[in-house]
Amino acid sequence: MSVDVLLGLQWGDEGKGKIVDFLAPGYDYIARFQGGPNAGHTLEFDGIKHVLHQIPSGIFRQGKHNIIGNGVVLDPVIFMDEIHQINKKFGSDLKKNLSISTRAQLISPVHRLLDKVLEKNKGDSKIGSTLKGIGPTYQDKIGRHGLRVGEVLSNNFIEKYKKQKSYHDMFLDGHYDKNFIKEEEKFFKSIEELKKFKIIDTEYLINKNLKKNKNILAEGAQGTLLDIDFGSYPFVTSSNTTTAGACIGLGISPKKIGKVFGIFKAYCTRVGAGPFPTELFDSVGEKIASNGSEFGSTTGRARRCGWLDLPALKYSIMLNGVTELHMMKADVLSGFEEIKICIGYNYNGVDIDYFPSSIESENIKPIFKTFKGWTTKSNSAKKIEDLEENFKSYVKFIEEEVGVKIKIISLGPVREQTIYIN
Ligand code: GDP
Ligand code: IMO
Ligand code: MG
Repeated sequence: MSVDVLLGLQWGDEGKGKIVDFLAPGYDYIARFQGGPNAGHTLEFDGIKHVLHQIPSGIFRQGKHNIIGNGVVLDPVIFMDEIHQINKKFGSDLKKNLSISTRAQLISPVHRLLDKVLEKNKGDSKIGSTLKGIGPTYQDKIGRHGLRVGEVLSNNFIEKYKKQKSYHDMFLDGHYDKNFIKEEEKFFKSIEELKKFKIIDTEYLINKNLKKNKNILAEGAQGTLLDIDFGSYPFVTSSNTTTAGACIGLGISPKKIGKVFGIFKAYCTRVGAGPFPTELFDSVGEKIASNGSEFGSTTGRARRCGWLDLPALKYSIMLNGVTELHMMKADVLSGFEEIKICIGYNYNGVDIDYFPSSIESENIKPIFKTFKGWTTKSNSAKKIEDLEENFKSYVKFIEEEVGVKIKIISLGPVREQTIYIN
């Protein structure tokens, strides 16, 4: 048996949460492998809209076990808030169907404060971080003085916390205030609640269940173009968001990877700073943003919008070994007279067809191909045959260019607004 991986091919917010929830009935385990509460994965079903930050998107499906893997950074305060919200809405006891890795790293108030101060110091070159403490927590992990979730069970956890904090005291001198003390109190209260959850060596849970022929779905967060190694550095997040990240972030051999589901929007969005070759600054971009309700699920910030970027998509497919594509939010493009796809770039004055390792807004210009738009109320379509010819040509063009089939076309935020193509 193998682990299937579902991940974003753009700059995040592709609709991963919706599709994990849609596919979850076919799996026994759903596991997050990287990132933390910088993620916001939205699910809509039975008239309810729910945004998940730390908890995997399989949590609303009966009989499924969800795992927060070793590659994740966990904020106990945000995690417990999420648990309370779900308990309130659904009355479910999540302690039974959720396991957390002993090796996942803990985000503390110090990391959140560091994120804020570091971003402020960057001035104009700030990343546009979600300020959830992601970068500083991964820095402590790599610096080999991280605090791991398993340590909350030890008698001297407070000493360990203080020791980690002391590494940052010099830098944060003058920044600790009354609010910080309140944040620390909330942190320790949440740690007491966190202790009641299943904190285990999840790499054994996963590998033992693979031997028993159980199905596992690994849920990516962020997107390939935000990957720490392969994204538009330095405007990236601090983890490996690619398929290889699932091996490291769950403790599975690369030989165990099965299908790789690559999720992309029918256009592009980006939240936060950094280069975005196909970004639109006109009324067309505004129309995409309003049709698609493009506001961040975590921070509420407006998402920047642009046309689909094919060289970037091909690059992401290559890095991840994508076996099938899922095209999201295709309904948002309905009603446009013309739709464009970027098929190459002019990079430093030369035409190229790849995604370069170093891009800046000034040195890269998109080369577009124009398509005729479609007008059908596509969110009422149930099968591929229900779509207009122009819409189908758009899908066919992408498939032929990238050499991978589009198996899902999503036409709305709700579970049922999903076409599966056999
Ligand atoms: P994720 O981070 O990849 O899980 O994506 P987000 O939840 O941050 O953002 C996707 C947004 O688009 C959410 O508000 C979803 O409810 C919504 N969404 C997902 N799929 C579709 C779709 O096919 N059409 C429309 N109109 N909205 C969608
Ligand atoms: P999901 O899983 C979109 C962006 C931030 C910022 C950069 C670094 O919902 O797709 P960080 O807080 O990680 O230090 O921020 O990455 N970013 C996301 N953008 N979706 C996300 O997650 C993101 N997580 C981080 O806006 O530009
Ligand atoms: Mg999101």
